[in-house]
Amino acid sequence: MQTKEIKILIYEYKNISDLSADDRELVGAAQKISSKAYAPYSGFKVGAALRMADGSIITSNNQENASSPAGLCAERTALFWANANFPDLPVVSIAISAIDKNGNPAKNLSPCGSCRQVMLETEHRFNQPIRLILDSNSKIEVLDNIEGLLPMSFNGSSL
Ligand code: THU
Repeated sequence: MQTKEIKILIYEYKNISDLSADDRELVGAAQKISSKAYAPYSGFKVGAALRMADGSIITSNNQENASSPAGLCAERTALFWANANFPDLPVVSIAISAIDKNGNPAKNLSPCGSCRQVMLETEHRFNQPIRLILDSNSKIEVLDNIEGLLPMSFNGSSL
């Protein structure tokens, strides 16, 4: 029997002003687009901003539906659009921000399992890590890659 341990590093910042100028811009873009989310059912408005390898920023937000499984999270609307339009352009970083149903900045923001799977696919597709920046009101968490968020993932190597 062998025991394996998987660790991830989470860099926690107290304030957006502690981030680099590039990351501050990306978080600002995620905050801005979150206010335009279509979330009439949950009232939870999420914004995602992607920093592309050419320095450009692509933003999107969650789009809900009366038939709830038909809706989609901000991370996936952003990534699918980016990958559809720029299939050769890697994604370098993703910032996520949200406004809760009371109109306040969301606490403890963390991507859902399906979004982790889709972000990981993009990481594998371009064979380069995607940094993740979670703008969680009282703290900002930064991760070096998506792989750490989805250990023992199902991926193309199984197929
Ligand atoms: N949501 C996102 O867009 N991204 C996340 O990381 C978490 C959840 C959306 C899905 C749904 O529209 C609403 O937030 C409440 O779950």
